[in-house]
This record gives sequence, structure tokens and C-alpha cells, in this order.
Amino acid sequence: MVKRVAVIGAGVSGLSSIKCCLDEDLEPTCFERSTAIGGLWKFTTTVCSITKRPDFSETGQWDVVTETEEKRETAVFDAVMVCTGHFLNPRLPLESFPGIHKFKGHILHSQEYKFPECFRDKRVLVIGLGNTGGDVAVELSRMAAQVLLSTRTGTWVVSRSSDGGYPLNMMNIRRCYNFIAQLLPSRVLNWIRERQLNKRFNHKNYGLSIIKGKKQKVIINDELPTCILCGTVTLKSGVKEFTETSALFEDGTMEENIDVVIFTTGYTFSFPFLEEPLKSLCAKKIFLYKLVFPSNLEKATLAIIGLISLQGSILTGTELQARWATRVFKGLCRIPPSQKLMAEFTEKEQLIERGVMRDTSENKLEYIPYMDDIAARIGAKPSVPRLFLKDPRLAWEVFFGPCTSYQYRLMGPGQWAGARNAILTQWDRTMKPLKTRIVPDSSTSASMSCYLKMWGAPLLLASLLLICKSSLFSKLVRDKLQYRISPDLISI
Ligand SMILES: Cc1cc2nc3c(=O)[nH]c(=O)nc-3n(C[C@H](O)[C@H](O)[C@H](O)COP(=O)(O)OP(=O)(O)OC[C@H]3O[C@@H](n4cnc5c(N)ncnc54)[C@H](O)[C@@H]3O)c2cc1C
Ligand SMILES: NC(=O)c1ccc[n+]([C@@H]2O[C@H](COP(=O)([O-])OP(=O)(O)OC[C@H]3O[C@@H](n4cnc5c(N)ncnc54)[C@H](OP(=O)(O)O)[C@@H]3O)[C@@H](O)[C@H]2O)c1
Repeated sequence: MVKRVAVIGAGVSGLSSIKCCLDEDLEPTCFERSTAIGGLWKFTTTVCSITKRPDFSETGQWDVVTETEEKRETAVFDAVMVCTGHFLNPRLPLESFPGIHKFKGHILHSQEYKFPECFRDKRVLVIGLGNTGGDVAVELSRMAAQVLLSTRTGTWVVSRSSDGGYPLNMMNIRRCYNFIAQLLPSRVLNWIRERQLNKRFNHKNYGLSIIKGKKQKVIINDELPTCILCGTVTLKSGVKEFTETSALFEDGTMEENIDVVIFTTGYTFSFPFLEEPLKSLCAKKIFLYKLVFPSNLEKATLAIIGLISLQGSILTGTELQARWATRVFKGLCRIPPSQKLMAEFTEKEQLIERGVMRDTSENKLEYIPYMDDIAARIGAKPSVPRLFLKDPRLAWEVFFGPCTSYQYRLMGPGQWAGARNAILTQWDRTMKPLKTRIVPDSSTSASMSCYLKMWGAPLLLASLLLICKSSLFSKLVRDKLQYRISPDLISI
């Protein structure tokens, strides 16, 4: 029976994993190589190797070798949760930049970037427009003589706050929108999304539009558009070549006298402490069942927690993964057998290699579908229709309101009695920190708009459903389209 669990890493994934082990009556031991977390942890303990024990096929046990202040220790664990994160090794693609070795200025990766003061009055080129590129460029814009931000592809830039100043993720991540998104054709959905994303500012005017055919990406940055507008950050295309002091860009422009180049080109992940072939397999996300369980293990006693990019909070994602993993360890949930998974994933890999299928394993996962999928495996996915019958007020908030983590504590193992109330009062807590100056509520138009906001979405959804289901509507569209498009393209 699984009892002792090694948790490798004490970041958010490790901390959630420890909590989930305790909830399941397991005995977690957390190993953390840095001293960042105080208190009870095993300090500065690096996990050097994790190997299957000789009787692994019967016991599923692991030998975990750790090193603390040059002293090595080995311990046997019934299960392992690898929570070492995926932003550890800087990706520094110098080979993609001809002439970079001639460049005489300072070159660094964003992992080494700590304070903007060192760049005062310098001409800085930031390469790569992910979240880090945006953050670094904005921060430097207040100190540096000039900030050039180079992107090969462009990106969508969203603000943390949505219409009315409400938090974006609470406004956007909702079951009702997820439901509509599943009904609408992807072209229509993309059109709606693009319109929405261009509402705050037109990305084309700011040189941020994504090049046609390139992967869609979104970053969160409140200040970048303003910096571009004010000229404190200058957007540039990809770098073609470096000379000793300058950079030539793909659009033919040249920037001279560059003092510093900061590569904000992201990270790679690896699991140096795992043995082969597990190490190589875990490096390929497509071979991880639901991005958690390596597919080549005869016993599911090792889980990778937190190797996900989600279009929502990573914290809730890793916690749910850990809840699932601990129940799999205990044999309370099952995953498909290794042979089946390996056959499926090998076929998928071949299809990707042949170009028949696209590799989407590095894409950000949609929040609600992924969370629901994992939650369903432990019986914690909220059933909205059942909730509507039992508790309509709660069901309303679950379906039309923000999909917050409490929703996965309403039922099943790990059910929390306070979840209902937490959902019904989540807006009070969200707004509370803003209420430092109480403004008397006097306007009727405000309550009217609240009323409209509350009923608008459901009414719109109901109308959409009716329209979609209406055979009359289908007929009308079909008749209209028949004049414009070849008949075999119409499949309404
Ligand atoms: C620059 C930057 C800014 C970010 N900003 C945000 C943000 O604003 N909001 C947000 O939601 N997310 C942000 N993220 C993402 C967020 O940091 C990660 O999603 C989150 O930290 C992942 O947590 P984790 O526990 O999985 O990994 P980590 O936080 O990386 O923790 C892994 C832990 O494992 C330890 N470890 C690794 N190897 C070993 C070993 N062999 N033995 C023992 N211990 C080991 C490490 O020391 C580390 O403490 C940011 C990421 C970066 C890189
Ligand atoms: N505030 C936040 O929430 C926050 C802040 C920082 C980081 N993070 C998170 O931390 C993680 C890492 O973010 P990150 O921005 O460091 O990395 P990232 O998301 O991987 O982005 C790196 C960028 O570098 C460019 N790039 C990648 N490979 C390249 C190559 N070979 N040559 C040239 N350019 C290349 C790409 O930009 P172009 O296509 O534009 O060239 C790419 O978007 C992400 O999950 C991110 O969400 C979050």
C-alpha cells in the first residue's frame, strides 16, 4: 500500500502536493534544494536521482537519492511527485543569431536580470515577446536611454482588468462562455476574440499583430501599449544579424550603439534526476497522460505536477493534478494500462513527425476543459444540471459566474462545506480591497446596469441556443448561402 511519498520541489506545485498527500492520509517528505521556504522543510536538499527499485513491478517503489551539504542519503518511497517546475533552465538560442559572438556589449538571459538600475541610460535590446519580454521592457523603460523590443511573431496583449475594471480572469473564465465557445464554429469564435482583443487598442497600429500563420499567443501587460504609445519602448521585428555594436532587423532597419542584449527567450525543462528511458520520455509532453503520468510505467507511482501552461491560474491546476495523483497512488482512481498509453502516444508522435497532426503539447491549455477533465477523474467535477435542480442560486453562479477553484470543492472527495458560501460571496472578497473609500450608492442607472449585466448573458445564451436549434434559421441560412458558396461546403 502506498504511504510514503517523496515530493521534489517546494514551489506552488510542491506545496499543493504536500497538502493533497496529507488530505489522503499519505506521508509526504518534501525535498527543496534552495533555502527559499522557511520552517519545516528539508532545507537545501537536492534530489540527485530517482530510480525504480528492483521489485518495482510488484511494489511500485522508488529509491530516492538526496544530497544535503555534500552528504548523500538514500530513502525508499512508495510514490514520487515531481514538482520541479518548468522554468529552471534558460533557453538561450544564440545559434539563431548570426554575429552574436562578435557583439561587444553585455549579453544576458532574463533569469540573470534582477534590477533595472544596472541598465540606467543604456540602450537595451530585449529579444522575445513573452510575458517576461513585456515585463522587462516596461520596467527598463523608466531607466534605460532606449528600450528596443524585438519579436519574431508579435502577440496579443491583454490587461489584468476587464470592462468595468473587474479582474479579467473572473470575467472571462466562465462555464457559460465555455459552453458557447463549444457551440460556435472556430472561425466565428476567432473573429469575436480578435474584435475583443483589439477593443482596448488596435494591435496592428502598435506593431504587435501576430504574423499570419504563426501560433497565437497572449501576454498580460497593462503598461506595454502605453510605453509603445509614449515611445519609451520601440517595437522591432526579429533580429537578422548582430555586428560588434549594432543589430540588423528582418525588416531591413538597423539599430546602432546597443549596450545590452537581454534574451527573454524562455526556458526549457528537464528531469536530470530520472533514469533512462523515463528521463527522455518525460521530456516529451505528449507521452505524459493528461500531462501528469509518464506512460511507460507499469505502476503509476510517479506523477509530474505543474508541467502545464493553463489559460488560467496555474495554482488551481497543479492542486487538482495533485489531488488526482494521490488518489491514483492509493488505487482509488485508475489510469489506462501502460501498453495502451504507449501505443496511443507512439502513434500520435508518428503522425506529428509525418506532419499529419499538429503538436499542440506546448500550447496553453484551455482552463475549464482541462480542469473539468481532471476533476471528473476524482468525482469532483460539478454537475451543473444537478445543481440547478438542487440549488438553483448556486448553480446560477457556477454556470454564469467566474469559474473559481471553489467549484472543484463542491462535491466528491475533498468536498468542502464552505465552498457554496465561498462561491456566493466571491465578488464581495474581490471588491473588498478596493473599498478603502466608501462611496454611497445613489444612482439608479448603476443598479439598472447591474441588472442588465446579470440577465444579459443568460438571455443572450438562451437566444443563441434557440437560434442554433431552430430549423427555420438553418433553412434560411442554407437558402442564403446556396447562392454564394458551392453546395458541398454547406453543412448546417
Ligand atoms: C519570470 C517569471 C515570472 C512569472 N510570473 C508569474 C506571475 O506573475 N503569475 C503567475 O501565476 N505565474 C507566474 N510565473 C509562472 C509561475 O512562476 C510558475 O507557474 C510557478 O512558479 C510554477 O510553480 P512550480 O512549483 O511548478 O515550480 P517552481 O516554482 O519552479 O518550483 C520548483 C522548485 O523545485 C526545486 N527543485 C528543482 N529541482 C530540484 C531538485 N533536483 N531537488 C530539490 N528541489 C528541486 C526548485 O528549487 C524550486 O523551488 C512566472 C514565471 C517566471 C519564470
Ligand atoms: N506576469 C506574469 O504572469 C509572468 C511574467 C513573466 C513570466 N511568466 C510566465 O513564465 C513563463 C516563461 O515566460 P517567458 O516570457 O520567459 O518565456 P516564453 O513565454 O517562452 O516566451 C519566450 C519568447 O521568446 C521568443 N523566442 C523563443 N524562442 C526563440 C528563439 N529561438 N529565437 C528568438 N526568439 C525566441 C518568443 O517570442 P517572439 O515569438 O515574440 O520572438 C517567445 O514568445 C511563461 O509561462 C509565462 O507566462 C508570467
